[in-house]
Amino acid sequence: MENLQGNWALITGASSGFGEEFARQYAAQGRPLVLVARRIEKLETLATELRETYRVDVIVEQVDLSNLAAVIQLHQRLRERGIAIDILINNAGHGLQGTFVDGTLDAALAMLQLDVVSLTAVTHVFAQDMRTRRRGKILLVASMLAYLGVEKFAAYAAAKAYVLRLGEALHRELKRDGITVTVLCPGMSDTGFATAAQQKITPALKLLMMQPAPVVRAGIRALQARRISVVPGWANKATVMFTRATPRWLHQAVFSRVMGAANDRGDAYTASIKVRR
Ligand SMILES: NC(=O)c1ccc[n+]([C@@H]2O[C@H](COP(=O)([O-])OP(=O)(O)OC[C@H]3O[C@@H](n4cnc5c(N)ncnc54)[C@H](OP(=O)(O)O)[C@@H]3O)[C@@H](O)[C@H]2O)c1
Repeated sequence: MENLQGNWALITGASSGFGEEFARQYAAQGRPLVLVARRIEKLETLATELRETYRVDVIVEQVDLSNLAAVIQLHQRLRERGIAIDILINNAGHGLQGTFVDGTLDAALAMLQLDVVSLTAVTHVFAQDMRTRRRGKILLVASMLAYLGVEKFAAYAAAKAYVLRLGEALHRELKRDGITVTVLCPGMSDTGFATAAQQKITPALKLLMMQPAPVVRAGIRALQARRISVVPGWANKATVMFTRATPRWLHQAVFSRVMGAANDRGDAYTASIKVRR
């Protein structure tokens, strides 16, 4: 069995959903972990459970990743402790639903700050270290919405398209430095995400809904296999193929219905972002 001691995995957004599941699956492999999020009690509880169950080292870091100075300080603290990150799971993010103009500009910019700016900063600082060591793996969590613009998810879908394009380009760019970059594009999944973004769950979305465990397993496998990107689940894969095989006006119209956006014209959602403290 591979000796994973010292081969740290850093997981952002580890206090719930996919991030928590990444922590469980990597701990089960015997890998030491750095868990990052804002809700420290959740991180502490998870860390205690993983240390007891899998006998792995777990460090918790309470960081608001929206604050770029805090990202740099996190990187610095880990460096000073001699913790080299072998696997970076860049997962923290939140959704934003509602008509673009009715939502507040602050809410849109806060989402972009976390899902785009902070993800870019975290990738940049840790990829530099990996390049020096000429080894490392980076997984970026995008979304199936990266493949198409959907009304009432305009800024969020655009943010995830950025994540997908960034990862695709970096996959090739960093390959020659011994670093693998993979993008995970989940569809609707049963995490705290939809509730946090006050997203309506339509019957079609219920059908597509996946549990976090198989999504995370697909992400870990794809990263291990050095794939550029992965869409977990056969229904999600079929949906992405549909977007490639049909004109934009058609798959946009279908997806608006699936996402529940087309049903409530005039009923402007309040754009919502998660504030959990
Ligand atoms: N679930 C889905 O249907 C779905 C589909 C496609 C893509 N995704 C993507 O999957 C990723 C994870 O989402 P999830 O579904 O697991 O949702 P989730 O359960 O709400 O988890 C989001 C995580 O991000 C962390 N986070 C949020 N704001 C943060 C901040 N400012 N600083 C540090 N951490 C922060 C949260 O921790 P704290 O609140 O403790 O900070 C939490 O651990 C996101 O990038 C999301 O866009 C989700």
